[in-house]
Amino acid sequence: MPFSSFSPHAPATQIISSLFTGLLILFAVIFLIVAGLVTYGIVRYRARAGEGEPLQKFGSRSLEITWTAIPLVIVIALFVVTVTAMARIDAPDEPNHPPDLVITGHQWWWDARYPTGAMAVTEFHIPVGKRLLVRIESTDVIHDFWVPQLARKMDAIPGRPGYIWLQADSPGTYPGQCSEFCGAQHAWMHFYVVAESEAEYSVWLRHQAEPALRPAIPLFTQKCADCHSNPAKAPDLTHVAGRKFLGGGVSSNTPANLALWTNTPQSVKPGNRMPDQQLSPQEVEELAAYLGSLQ
Ligand code: CUA
Repeated sequence: MPFSSFSPHAPATQIISSLFTGLLILFAVIFLIVAGLVTYGIVRYRARAGEGEPLQKFGSRSLEITWTAIPLVIVIALFVVTVTAMARIDAPDEPNHPPDLVITGHQWWWDARYPTGAMAVTEFHIPVGKRLLVRIESTDVIHDFWVPQLARKMDAIPGRPGYIWLQADSPGTYPGQCSEFCGAQHAWMHFYVVAESEAEYSVWLRHQAEPALRPAIPLFTQKCADCHSNPAKAPDLTHVAGRKFLGGGVSSNTPANLALWTNTPQSVKPGNRMPDQQLSPQEVEELAAYLGSLQ
């Protein structure tokens, strides 16, 4: 169950999951008691042939106190366990130290900036077992950052950053998804959190902070660099060939898909901000080959 909050892999999602399961059991018990009493009443007190009007009773102080007090106690208990869980999970609204990671939602992809200057798109690596303070931002509309196995949801609101703790207890790739409708391609705003050992993580991080392996070819500078050198406008392409997915997860990163994106971006992800560049087949080939070399 990779994309499911029923398989928690972090302290925060363990708490959320136990809270949910606990409440579900409590509500099931309440449902069974109420439905049982209603069924008993219907069967036991139904009208039988020859019986007249049943005995009419008005007002019973002890009954009224009982059926007010029981739900009140239940609701207060729910409030206490929920607030306690929230207090254990939530990162501070305005932390007094800089975040370990800044993740930004765009129509329609996510990127991450690390304190070292490394930039990642769609695939975010973290060291396993370590709790990171993550700031969630947006450059355009409201998105919502959600990795069900690792953290609570957090809205990405333009101009108002939110903070979450992000942690993975075991190594693995954890899928995430934008969970606030944000336009035509909302469904294709996937991302992945890759939790790995400290050693693997630092190798990855160092590589992501390095400049592109090959200097930009003139065609790239002329056609792509304007937008793709500005993370607010378009995904960073410095290490694009090293990614598993393109376009926020809409296509896997194969040479054919890279060429398709370069040639007719609107055919792959209709409505995205990248206009058709009217490239010749030779230009598509040249650009796709260049991008495909940027490991
Ligand atoms: Cu971004 Cu939905």
